[in-house]
Order: sequence, then C-alpha cells, then structure tokens
Amino acid sequence: MHHFHYREGELCAEEVPLRELAERHGTPLFVYSHATLVRHVRRYQSAFRTAGQGALIAFSVKANPNLAIVRALANEGAGADVVSLGELERALAAGVPAGRIVFAGVGKRPDELRRGLEVGILQFNVEVEGELDHLEAIAKELGRPAPIALRVNPDVTPQTHDYIRTGGKVNKFGIPWERARAVYARAVASPHLEPVGLACHIGSQILTLEPFRIALERIAGLVRELRADGLPVSRLDVGGGLGVRYRDEVPPSLEDYADTVVAALKGLGCELICEPGRVIMANAGILLTRVLYRKETEQKRFLIVDQGMNDLSRPALYGAYHEVIAVREGVGLMEADVVGPICETGDFLSRGGQVPDVAAGELLCAMSAGAYGRSMSSNYNTRARAGEVLVRGAEAFLVQEREELSDLWAREIVPGFLSEVAPPASTAAVGGDPESPAAPPASVD
Ligand code: LLP
Repeated sequence: MHHFHYREGELCAEEVPLRELAERHGTPLFVYSHATLVRHVRRYQSAFRTAGQGALIAFSVKANPNLAIVRALANEGAGADVVSLGELERALAAGVPAGRIVFAGVGKRPDELRRGLEVGILQFNVEVEGELDHLEAIAKELGRPAPIALRVNPDVTPQTHDYIRTGGKVNKFGIPWERARAVYARAVASPHLEPVGLACHIGSQILTLEPFRIALERIAGLVRELRADGLPVSRLDVGGGLGVRYRDEVPPSLEDYADTVVAALKGLGCELICEPGRVIMANAGILLTRVLYRKETEQKRFLIVDQGMNDLSRPALYGAYHEVIAVREGVGLMEADVVGPICETGDFLSRGGQVPDVAAGELLCAMSAGAYGRSMSSNYNTRARAGEVLVRGAEAFLVQEREELSDLWAREIVPGFLSEVAPPASTAAVGGDPESPAAPPASVD
C-alpha cells in the first residue's frame, strides 16, 4: 500500500506531481510519502495491540536514516534500532528519546558503547562475549549498570538473498545458541550489567511466517530455561525482517505477522520490541530519474538514465528488482534494459524486462526505493548523492539537499611534496615530444 498514483495524466506523490519535483530539485531524487510511512507504522503498532500485546517499534535506522523520516516515525511513538555511533547520534538529533533506542550490531567499538551508556539508551543487544567485557568496564567507570539483551542466533535460515540472512549457524551474528545460558548467567552475576532479555533477527525480506515462528518458539524455550536457572527475563526484541512486495511477491500481512509473534511468545509475559525497517519505508519512497539517451545495438535496446548504482545499489548488489514506471500516464511498454551512467556492466536498474517506451528527456520512477536506497548510496564515479523530498498532501519539503561536487573532495588532502612539483604545462605524453622538459623523467630503476 502506498500513495504514488496517477492524477490527471501524471504520477504524483500524494497530491504533488513528480514532474514538478524534478523541475524544482533536479534528478535523481528520492521522494517519500509521509502518509504511507505513517500508515505503515500505525498499522504495525495496531497489529500488535490487536494480537493482544503492544510492542515498541524501534525503526531500523539503516533502512532510511534521514532526520525527517526518523522524526516522523518518532512522532508516532516509534523508537530506533541503531547500529553505529553515527546512527545513535542521528536518532538523538532527530528527537528519538534515548529510552526508546536499541543499540544493535555485531561490532560495536568501546567509544560507541560508552556514548550509548552515557545518554541512557533502552538497551544494548550484545552479540559477542567480548562486548560484555567492554560494557562491564565502561559501566563500572560511569557508575551506572548497562541494560543488555543477548542477541542469540537461533540457527534458522530463511529463504532470502544469501547476503541478508543472519540467523544461521554459519552467520557472524548473535551469541551461539549453546553459549546463551552461560553468557546470560555471567551477565546476571555482574553488578555492572543489567540483563533484561533476549533479541533475535534472522534476516531481511522474509516472505513467509514459518521461519519467524520457528525462531521465536526456540527463543521462548530459551526464556523458560533461563527462568528455570533462576535468571530474570522481562523483554524480548524480535528483530525486523518482514518482506515487502517489489514485483509479485505476496508478503504476510502485518496482522498475521503480529499474530505469529504474539502466539509464539504467549504466556511469557515479556515486553516486546520490534525492529522493522523495510516494511515501514520501502514502499513509502521512490527514486525519480530522467532518461538521458535511448540507445540501440544489434542485440539490445537501452534507456540510459541519470541515476546509477551509486544512487540505488540494490539491483547491482543483490540482483534486486525495482519496478520502473513512467511519470507520464499511459505510456506503452517495450523490451529494454534501464542502465545508469556508471562504468560497470552491473550498473543497471532493470534488465531484460518490459519497461516504459519513453523518449530521452522523460522521467521514470523506480518504485519501492524508500528503504536501503539513499542510505546505501555512494559517491562512486565522483557523483554527488541525490536529494530527498518528503511529501505530505499537497506540500513537498526538501529533507536532504543534493550534495555539491566540491563537498566530495573537501576533506581530501594533497600532500605538500606533491604540490612542490608543478604539473606539466601541456599533455606532452600524448603524441608530444618525449624530450620535452615538461615530460616526466623516464624511470630506469
Ligand atoms: N534488526 C537488525 C538487527 C538488522 O540487522 C536489520 C537489517 C533490521 C533489524 C531491519 O530489517 P528489515 O526489517 O529492514 O528487513 N541492504 C539490504 C537489507 C539489509 C538488512 C540488514 N539488517 C537490502 O537492501 O535488501
């Protein structure tokens, strides 16, 4: 469900024509619908209430870290799942109360742990035993116990892209199942640690409920074992991972997901935290791009557009599908690849499918680009990262300016010894006189 629809012949974000946004802010441009993301977070919350147990929705900031997005979700009562100092500072800057922030991540540095403890976050999801040593030392020094949950690895491998599966024994994530009881007991024994419960996250873009059910039933079993050991468990973080529709997938509904989670954990009496990212943001955003050229070879037809794999890396990285539609309504389809300007064959937005039969200069839209779109973009090929616009009804707000080119090398430094040598006045090497004094000396050793 989203709010990108045709009105009077052109594609709009809520009530704002995308063409106007392209004219005002240029392309490529990420555009988000406020109504969509608010609807998703409210539905997530109400699905859990209806299933019989409310949950804190800690939005997974990595999916879309823009301050305005994180703030919009915080205004709905959401918290934040952060995985770095940068995300922690961002969540705080966006106005998320520290008491609604969960610090996850497999490789937290001591300075990151310290800052989390200083600002009083809700909990650290600990993934490796060494992290407990650091937390213990920092907590002792600061004189305040560190609230922790153990992220355990339930050894469940969902069907999804190999790169985004996290719950299997072979993955780097979580405390190994066999160690969980001993590690939890050790944490309880420490005066500087305050274990509150368990966390688990088995992967992303998961399209069936079965893996969630199996993983959470295992977690419920572990909670019972810990309690039988006399250890307190009061909170469970069930992670994120619910999939969305990019093409023709039929993901479980939020209501069925919430029912499954609540049923698997029934009778434990634990508080619940969820860490959704994609399901909140993917379909709340699109990437707007302009066709630069049409190109036909003997074998193929290409639409060369002005967004590249540096802007939306998912197709190149995971072979991910994003539907490509025209901003002008009623355009016919043709077989063509939609490719970017980057010097790699992997730089495609759509390959081998039917795409809009549009001319150079027209606008296209890559759907479902609101999660892991702008957040994974880079400056590859020295391209400025795109701007972002948040639409609410008939109003559009620029929430991220496009980068200036000069920003891209502002922190680069040419060492003095390189500056002492004046560059050659002419390009003598290209067909020039090799004896010319401007030519660099030939190296013989
Ligand atoms: N919690 C933890 C501990 C996670 O590692 C993740 C995602 C989430 C929550 C949120 O998962 P979601 O609800 O968004 O599935 N870049 C990839 C996705 C990477 C997901 C990483 N972890 C993509 O574009 O498909």
